[in-house]
Order: sequence, then C-alpha cells, then structure tokens
Amino acid sequence: MLVLGLESSCDETAAALVEDGVRVRGDAVASQVAVHREWGGVVPEIASRHHVTNLIPVLETALKESGATLADVDGLAVTRGPGLVGALLVGVQAAKAIAWARGLPLVGVNHLEGHLSAVWLDGDRGPAFPHLALLVSGGHSELVIARDHGVYELLGATRDDAAGEAFDKVGKMLGLGYPAGPVVDQLAATGDPNAVKLPRAMRGRGLDFSFSGMKTAMQTLLQRDGVPVGQALADLCASFQAAIVDQLVRKTRLALEEQGLTQLQVAGGVAANRGLRAALAELTRELGVDLFIPSPKRCTDNAAMIAAAGYWRLQRGERADLMLNATASLPLA
Ligand code: KG4
Ligand code: ZN
Repeated sequence: MLVLGLESSCDETAAALVEDGVRVRGDAVASQVAVHREWGGVVPEIASRHHVTNLIPVLETALKESGATLADVDGLAVTRGPGLVGALLVGVQAAKAIAWARGLPLVGVNHLEGHLSAVWLDGDRGPAFPHLALLVSGGHSELVIARDHGVYELLGATRDDAAGEAFDKVGKMLGLGYPAGPVVDQLAATGDPNAVKLPRAMRGRGLDFSFSGMKTAMQTLLQRDGVPVGQALADLCASFQAAIVDQLVRKTRLALEEQGLTQLQVAGGVAANRGLRAALAELTRELGVDLFIPSPKRCTDNAAMIAAAGYWRLQRGERADLMLNATASLPLA
C-alpha cells in the first residue's frame, strides 16, 4: 500500500511516499529555519504562509523521487496536531483536497505518533510491542509504553519546558542562533561535561521531567559571568547537555526497570543528539535492553513518519471525512 504523507505542524513543510509503513520511496522536506532564524524562533503567521507556498513543490519533489504519480497512491495521511493551528491547517486542507479530488482514503495522524513510527523506516528491524518510547522533541518530552501501532500509555511528561525547547532557549542565551540544539551538540563534542556544576532536577522516582530549573541556573550563571568564548563555551555546552541527558537517561532507566521492558525506542528531534545517543547506548548495554533510534534525518520533522503512522490506521480501516480539522493541543495518549 503506497501512502502519501503530508506534514506542516511547525516550520517544516514535508511530503513523502511510503510503501507498507516501512519503505520510503520519496521524501521531501522544505525547512523554514532560515526564515525564522531572523526572529529567534518560529513566527506562526510566517510559518503558515510559507507552508502555502512550499507545499505543492515538496509534493512534486517527493512524487518525482518516488517515480510514482498520484494515480499510484492508495491512501493519504496528514498531521492533524499537535502544532501551530494555522500551519497544521495548510496540510490538512491540502490533504482533504487531494483525497476528495482523487477519491482516496484519508487519515489524520498525531504528529507524536508520527515520530514514534519513524523507527520502522530505516531498515527491516524495528522494536517489538510492547516497548518503552522516549519521545524528545522541541515541543514534547514524554516517556510512553507503545503497546501497538497507535496504542500508547503515558508514563511521564515534562512539567515545563520540553528537552528541545531547553536546548533552544539556553542556546539562544549563548548566542547560538535558532534552532540551537544541533549547535550545542556540536560544541559539546569538544567540551568537558564536568567543567560547570549544574543542578540535577527531578531526582525522585517519578517519571516526569523538568528542565526549566536548569534554564534558570544557566541564565543566572550567564548574568554573573557573561557568555564565554572558545573552549569555555564548549565546556559550558557540554556541561549543560550532560545535565539534560542525565535526567533523560535516569528517568528512562527507572521506566525500563519499573515496567520490565526489554526494548527502547527514542524519537523526536533531540534523539539526534550525540550525547543522548551515546548515553542511551551505554544504559541499554548495561541493562541488556535493545535500543532503536531512527537515523538523525528521521528524528527531526518529516512526512515519511506521518505516512508510516497513517499506514497502520488505514490498514485498520480508519477513515477521516472532509470535516477533519487541525487541533493545536492533541495528546498522544
Ligand atoms: O522533532 P522536531 O524536529 O520538532 C518538533 O516536533 O518539535 O524537534 C526539533 C527540536 C529542536 O528543539 C532542536 O533544537 C532539537 O530538536 N534538536 C536537537 C538536535 N537536533 C535537533 N537538540 C539537541 N541536539 C541535536 N543534535
Ligand atoms: Zn516533531
């Protein structure tokens, strides 16, 4: 079954064609990062307008790459939330128009479910159900049990900032632009993670996260000492990254132990972070747990993951009608 996926929840306009939820035939992403960088973050109205102009070109690119035409497509999947409502609406409206014009089945997909479906796109081996999923993106940080495709149980979530948001906000204070997560990752690679002592929050046995205290600690530090340069900047990035990774890994360990699960998948933009990937590789080796992380390209927003998630819903006979709407706040479970 060839599924066309469309994604426009934030600042990436994306279209992809995926066969049977696992094989990517065409995958195009138009990033608006350069547009929003000037403002230090995503400007919702500007994002919506760029989705309007970018959507048809990315669709054409994905189709061309796949060698398929719309006549070969068996079904459509579109992100219906969570995200910026004006941005989401562009993808939802386009998907409804294509579905109506071509008489194709359509499903709305939760963006987070999309992230949790990316892990099956990189090869023929994905995690078995049930497994633990750590979802860490710019908007969300959650620990969930994945019981089946589209069936999740929430174990813990952030009480304030998402992990990616913390990377971006602190990176902005350090003058690293937007989004700062990948830059902090790069600088941290040459820094000393023990150089600066930062507070470790949420030390109890609960599975919720909290990153705003760390952000405040960094702010206080920068107000006192100013923004460092050279090796001192790399050391500060490494120390901050280690504090975030430490909390993510500690809660993941607790969840794996409490639930007795032996497989872990990590998804979302922050799953591309090399410090997190290395620390989780070490944890899972120690616990004898199988670790699955999508390739960095599939960790960040794309439409292949939406097509993959949509495939399972279409297979189960789910259908959205033309009343399908965008929802800014849409929980995973
Ligand atoms: O999943 P995603 O593309 O979009 C959302 O659904 O939010 O995640 C974007 C987030 C941004 O906060 C970005 O800074 C962060 O993921 N990110 C990273 C890295 N690559 C992306 N954070 C840390 N290290 C990275 N290598
Ligand atoms: Zn995302």
